[in-house]
Amino acid sequence: MANSNKNGDERVKRIALTGFMGVGKTSIARHLAHLLRCERLDLDSLIEANEKKSVGRIIDEQGIDAYRRIETDNLRLALARTNARIISLGGGAWTVAENRDLIRNEGVTSIWLNASFTHCWNNIRFSKKERPLARDKASARLLFDERKDVYALADWHFVVKQDLTSFEIARQIVDEVFC
Ligand code: S3P
Repeated sequence: MANSNKNGDERVKRIALTGFMGVGKTSIARHLAHLLRCERLDLDSLIEANEKKSVGRIIDEQGIDAYRRIETDNLRLALARTNARIISLGGGAWTVAENRDLIRNEGVTSIWLNASFTHCWNNIRFSKKERPLARDKASARLLFDERKDVYALADWHFVVKQDLTSFEIARQIVDEVFC
């Protein structure tokens, strides 16, 4: 079920998926790009390609502030240069005001994939992706609670039900956001 903060008849051209770690942004973006037959870009993958290091390693070696600067630079590049209609952000990108401004100023529609903490934590736990900001459940929970209000600033809120696959979620987004 999606709630929109925008006027319903506005045409959606490009979208940025945000939401907590483990919510499924990357895989939902992959299905969306397939369903809409368009290009997609994953911000963390772009950073890893440009920096030639994993996001986890950048955070561990250079710290979170340095990582956020790299993330903003890459977001700016991505928004200016790519034709990708679907952009999946890292979970912290939307929490930075400068990034939200960049996204809005480019006319990109933001979608918050809103799932329960349990859903996100179960995915984080079993994922191979190194997430320095979610190494234990208590710190992840704290971050999850802290970020809710800022994710809610996204144009669309999409409640992710635990029993749906990424493909089914992508189908619902296409139906509700793009039709
Ligand atoms: C982060 C989320 C990660 C990655 C980095 C920081 C965050 O991406 O960008 O570890 O601050 O929430 P995912 O949301 O894809 O895990």
